[in-house]
Amino acid sequence: MRMYDIIMKKRNGGELSTEEINFFVEGYTKGEIPDYQVSALMMAVYFQKMTEQETLALTMAMADSGDTLDLSEIQGIKVDKHSTGGVGDKTSLALAPMAAACGIPVAKMSGRGLGHTGGTIDKLESFPGFTTALTRRQFVENVNRIGVAIMGQTADLAPADKKLYALRDVTATVDNMSLIASSIMSKKLAAGADAIVLDVKTGSGAFMKKEQDARALAQEMVKIGKNARRRTIAVISDMDQPLGYAVGNALEVKEAIETLQGKGPADFVELCLTLGSRMLMAGGKADTVQEAKERLRKVIADGSALKKLAEFVEAQGGNADAVYNMGLLPAARIVRPIPAPVSGYINHITCDEVGICSLILGGGRETKESAIDLSVGLVLCKKSGDYVEAGEPLAMLHANDETRAEEAANRYLKACSIADTPRERTDFIRGIL
Ligand code: URA
Repeated sequence: MRMYDIIMKKRNGGELSTEEINFFVEGYTKGEIPDYQVSALMMAVYFQKMTEQETLALTMAMADSGDTLDLSEIQGIKVDKHSTGGVGDKTSLALAPMAAACGIPVAKMSGRGLGHTGGTIDKLESFPGFTTALTRRQFVENVNRIGVAIMGQTADLAPADKKLYALRDVTATVDNMSLIASSIMSKKLAAGADAIVLDVKTGSGAFMKKEQDARALAQEMVKIGKNARRRTIAVISDMDQPLGYAVGNALEVKEAIETLQGKGPADFVELCLTLGSRMLMAGGKADTVQEAKERLRKVIADGSALKKLAEFVEAQGGNADAVYNMGLLPAARIVRPIPAPVSGYINHITCDEVGICSLILGGGRETKESAIDLSVGLVLCKKSGDYVEAGEPLAMLHANDETRAEEAANRYLKACSIADTPRERTDFIRGIL
């Protein structure tokens, strides 16, 4: 078999066989097929797309490209949760301890920021000392002892996805449905959870901008999960503006803590309750959505979810005092408003642009090796549909560099359109499969 023939077949719109997919995944993982040939194949896939059969074969080949985690030593039904990526998406920070406080063993594998989207691991590292570099033993012990552990993707877990993902990131081939579905599901299958709850984002801050594409992605992932005999549920949620108000690593950690203190933004709370209720039901801790949501609200009201976050941070080497004293989290030197140029209603906030503002401030990586500034970002003051007076802040910038702050402020102003009349509100949750 030759890689050249596989590239040409896909370029010409052919359907790759399972053997051909296995050949390129294996060869690429072992370093026998070079980046330039796989880049060409990814671009051919981007334009010609993949059939359901090809997507499934790619997922299974990537899931089997390294070790799989055996979580059988963890008691109970293990539930994992994964988002397709968004701006201000701090869901795992609040939801993992909420679900754990309700008795769900949360054994979760998370990633770092990618492109304009943030990553849970970067956010968690805002807790001084926190690490996600756990051994399998520590991971299992932590879940058994406190109910929750989050680790990063190790070099041996779905290594094909790790390599392919980094390649797609720099070859403009991220936003393809089959490539996203296989990337996410290969990691989830290799990470060993019994049930998977997916948060599929749609809108200007998502990789799938159109709702119909997000729905198709959700359907594809649910099918793959069921095929692998994992209970899989997908929620389609709005990412046409940032989730909650905070965008930026430590700022999002603060918002997640406030949410666990019962002071969370409405959209973020709605998302946590929607995803969390499906986690509880999949894990056998509730029979109905209503019962599950009540349990989740209770662990916020009685402080047990916040306590669980502190236990989790401490178990992974972080300073848990920061959960109760947010002054211990990284903070930026410059905090200044972005004033509204005119009065009116916020019509649209181009969401990926807000993610890019955070990158400009230093909150994300420009290259794979860049260090990130955990303290910077933006806190929105107005969201879509809100009224703003000229001169009132649209958002607060948190920065450590005046030039970057200026650039981010200008970019934010371009991303935010203001109209004379309020726009119609759309549903935040767009569907559940
Ligand atoms: N998240 C992933 O893990 N992979 C993708 O391709 C996109 C989002």
